[in-house]
Amino acid sequence: MPTTSVWPKVVGFALLFGVPLVAGIAVTTAKARLKQDAVAEALTGGDLALAPPIFRRYGCGGCHAIPGIPGADGKVGGQLAGLSDQVYIGGVANNNADNLVAWIVSPQRFSTNSAMPETGIKESEARHLAAYLYAH
Ligand code: HEC
Repeated sequence: MPTTSVWPKVVGFALLFGVPLVAGIAVTTAKARLKQDAVAEALTGGDLALAPPIFRRYGCGGCHAIPGIPGADGKVGGQLAGLSDQVYIGGVANNNADNLVAWIVSPQRFSTNSAMPETGIKESEARHLAAYLYAH
């Protein structure tokens, strides 16, 4: 009598249900991500795809850990993840897009004692960074 293995059935079951399930979750996650990106760009008027080289040019990563930016692992200013969930920026300014852009350009405008320096970044560039930060 031939011994029937259960494995072909298990593999078949996994392919039939597992693959569509995983693909479905991936598509849903990707759509949520795109929506979050679009909201962040609409709020700030920036293009988050332009942000990574700007973070590098102005040395943000030397003081901040920034998600998704290789080498941005600074410990001076804390990490910049989940900024959209915060109530305040730098503990002093209401968290909205205009204030975030203004903070990035000139933190001293809000907090004269802030250890964060003015980096000389242009407002248009700061908008791209703000879009990126709100999306991560
Ligand atoms: C020399 C170090 C230094 C550099 C360079 C620097 N920062 Fe900061 N940053 C800080 C410090 C310190 C704070 C906390 C300041 C405070 O609360 O007054 C801060 C705060 C912030 C905050 C508010 C964070 C929060 O949780 O509320 C944002 C946003 C920010 N920095 C973005 C940037 C960006 C974008 C750049 C690059 C253009 C940058 N920083 C460059 C030191 C730095």
